[in-house]
Amino acid sequence: MRKRIVAGNWKMNKTYEEALSLVSEIDNMVKDEVNGDVTVIVAPPFPFLQGVGKLTQGNDLMHLAAQNVSEHESGAFTGEVSAGMLKSVGVQYVIIGHSERRMYHHEDAQTLYKKLKAAIAQGITPIFCCGEPLDERDADRHFDYVGKQLHDSLSYLSNEEFDKVVVAYEPIWAIGTGRTASSQQAQEMHAYIREQLSRMFDAEAAFNCSILYGGSCNPGNAKELFSQPDVDGGLIGGASLKSRDFTDIIKSF
Ligand code: 13P
Repeated sequence: MRKRIVAGNWKMNKTYEEALSLVSEIDNMVKDEVNGDVTVIVAPPFPFLQGVGKLTQGNDLMHLAAQNVSEHESGAFTGEVSAGMLKSVGVQYVIIGHSERRMYHHEDAQTLYKKLKAAIAQGITPIFCCGEPLDERDADRHFDYVGKQLHDSLSYLSNEEFDKVVVAYEPIWAIGTGRTASSQQAQEMHAYIREQLSRMFDAEAAFNCSILYGGSCNPGNAKELFSQPDVDGGLIGGASLKSRDFTDIIKSF
């Protein structure tokens, strides 16, 4: 069964105290207002993971994600955090291949593949991000661009490994810009992604893969985006930093 998921990527925002208040508010609103058919994920910065995780422990709908993971298991990698470390503080999901990490930290397709393997080996579900820059869309090359991103990092996984993966389509031109993809643009890309996945893996696994949309998703546009047949939820940036907005997005299914 395909899971419906709303994940909040907090990026590099909030102090520890602010993070705890935000997650308490979300946790309470989700308990009061959200029915059981959606997986809610929060992805705070590394130092807040354990504290945030403690506050969501009693709520079955709430899950904890990291924003990044090392491709290495352990050793002399100053500043890096391994999948085993994340697992040991209760992390269940990890964002891999976000465009900001590809762009500012030069993460290439092979590195992302290794990160996927490292997370899966620890039983952590990767949320694998893909999405094209504006010039690729303007040149009508967005399908090929995203297809290559999928192929270059995911296709080396086994069917069994791929079963654990969530995909997020985040067109770069829509991230933090207030310019969201239309529901039609999202649907056609999500359908394309699912078709590509069905060529790389077995059809059932592709059908069951949750594909999230990310990029200026807000309480005003989430309902229409989530109503598309291949849009299984959202990866939310800015609007996930406000408990009311984030909960309203969760309630948009
Ligand atoms: P915004 O929702 O702020 O556009 O960010 C999307 C994103 O990058 C989530 O990972």
